[in-house]
Amino acid sequence: MVALRPDIPLLAPSILSADFAKLSDALAMLEASGAEVVHVDVMDGRFVPNITMGMPVVAAMRKITNLPLDCHLMIVEPSRYALEFVEAGASWVSVHQEADPHLHRTLDSIRKAGAKAGVALNPGTPVETLIDLFGCFDFVLLMSVNPGFGGQSFIPRILDKARRLDALRTERKSPFLLQVDGGVSLKNAADLVRAGADCLVAGNAVFKAPDPVAAVHGLQAAIRTARTK
Ligand code: DX5
Ligand code: ZN
Repeated sequence: MVALRPDIPLLAPSILSADFAKLSDALAMLEASGAEVVHVDVMDGRFVPNITMGMPVVAAMRKITNLPLDCHLMIVEPSRYALEFVEAGASWVSVHQEADPHLHRTLDSIRKAGAKAGVALNPGTPVETLIDLFGCFDFVLLMSVNPGFGGQSFIPRILDKARRLDALRTERKSPFLLQVDGGVSLKNAADLVRAGADCLVAGNAVFKAPDPVAAVHGLQAAIRTARTK
């Protein structure tokens, strides 16, 4: 089992913002940069208004990188496909609470398959809805944009949501990892960590930067400094 709360906050660049014709270059860059996790945005054109990539792409990436692949399933009926993503090589799999009426079962099956199981919440879904699932997941992904596209603007009230979830896990002694995804940049990364985030996803802030390796290092420095305060 992966440590639920890492000593240092993790950076998970989102491969969605990379050049899909050069995924191997993007993965080599991320490995060289020291990024801890690769975030993989899976969209089906139904749960969200965009279609991206599926299991074959995850399997292809698995062959060429040692980094953990974190598959964020923005799809309807995620229980139909979650295990196929684990088989393809995902180390982390998150499913949206809004898309799955049987989360205990789905999360349990992801864990039994050997991956870290996560629940993702859209910006409008309150964190309090997770209380009856505490203990059944390894991480929570708080969306800080409405999912579907990279490069959107961060919704600031997610900071309050992160603080509320952080307080809940402390109060209930439930040591899951808190991930935030969407519009993350140097402008908000430190505040997110101070609000309780343990893992930040960053797409455009890494891949659209003039120097993506420097962008990884800049974000890592910001979040590591924030954790020590
Ligand atoms: C949005 C995705 C995010 C997105 C992040 O639906 O879940 O992971 O790729 O990209 P940025 O950091 O550019 O918002
Ligand atoms: Zn994502």
